[in-house]
Amino acid sequence: MSTSLKGRNLVSLKDLTRDELKAILELAAAVKRVPGDYSSKFVNKTLAMIFQKPSLRTRVSFETGMTQMGGHAIYLAPTDISLGKRETTEDIALVLSRYVDLIMARTFGHDIVEDLAKHATVPVINGLSDYSHPCQILADLQTIEEHKGQLTGLNFVYSGDGNNVAHSLMFGGALAGMNVTIVTPRGYEPKADVLSESRELAKASGATIATTHDLHEAAKGADVIYTDVWASMGQEADAKNRQAFFMPYQVNSELLAAADPDCVVLHCLPAHYNEEITYDVTRSRNSAIFDQAENRMHAQKALMLLLAGA
Ligand code: CP
Ligand code: NVA
Repeated sequence: MSTSLKGRNLVSLKDLTRDELKAILELAAAVKRVPGDYSSKFVNKTLAMIFQKPSLRTRVSFETGMTQMGGHAIYLAPTDISLGKRETTEDIALVLSRYVDLIMARTFGHDIVEDLAKHATVPVINGLSDYSHPCQILADLQTIEEHKGQLTGLNFVYSGDGNNVAHSLMFGGALAGMNVTIVTPRGYEPKADVLSESRELAKASGATIATTHDLHEAAKGADVIYTDVWASMGQEADAKNRQAFFMPYQVNSELLAAADPDCVVLHCLPAHYNEEITYDVTRSRNSAIFDQAENRMHAQKALMLLLAGA
C-alpha cells in the first residue's frame, strides 16, 4: 500500500499526484469489495467532523465509514464550536489534535480548512468548502471507473455553476486523464486560476480542460454528464435570480439524446428536481447517482486509511 499519503491532509485534489489519486481509487475499490478486511483498522481511533453547513451524505458516509472500520466519529454541529467566533481556528486545530486521529471539516471559506490543516498535527480532510469538494470527486471518479471501466480519455461534461464541485472535477479530471468540459451561463464560469492550474496539472495526463457556454455542442458524444445545484449552500438568497440564467443548462432527456447512448449521468446531490436536472433522468438507465452517493463512503474509507497510515 502506498505510504506517501500518511500524515498528509486532503485540502484540494490539486495537492495529489496522479499516483496518489490512483492509490486512493484502487483502495476504494478494494474496501468496497471486501469491507471486512478493514473492520479493525481504526479501533480506538476517532474522527472529528466539523460542520459549518448542513449535510446528509458527508456526515453519514464519514461516520458510518469510521464505525465500519472499528472507530468512532464525533459530529460537531455549526453551533457546537462556533468556528472562528467562540475560539480561533488555530486553537480548535491544536486542541482537537490532542484528542482525535483525523479531522474532517465542511466550511464556508476555504481559508478555514487551510488554517485547520496548517495548525493541526493530525490529517485534515476538506469535506466541502466554497472553493472545492475533493471527497465528492473521489467518489465520482470511483463511480465513473465502475461504470465505464476506465477514466483516461473519457469525455466528461459538467453543466451548471462553476462552483466548488466544478473546481474539484477540473483538478480530478486533470489528474485522471479525463477530458473535462465545464459548461456554464456567462458570468458563472469556474475561477480563472482553477482553469490555469488544472490545465497545468493536465499536461502530465494528456487530458483537456475546457470551458464553454454551449451545452448542446458540449454534450455531443459525452461519456458522462454531471450537474449540481445552481445555488450552493450560502447562496440561497440568490437562488431565484439565478433560475432564468441557468434554465438552458438543465440536464434533461432532450440533452441526454445528444450524448452517447451509454452516457453516465451523475449528480453529487442534494438535487433540486426540475431545476438543474429532471426527475426522469435521475431514474433512467443512464443514472448512477445512488452508486455515486454510496461511493462517498468507500472512497472516504480509503482516504482515511491512507492518511492515517492504518
Ligand atoms: N454531496 C454532498 O456532499 O452531500 P451533503 O451536502 O449531503 O453532504
Ligand atoms: N455546490 C454544492 C454542493 C453540495 C454537495 C454546495 O456547495 O452547496
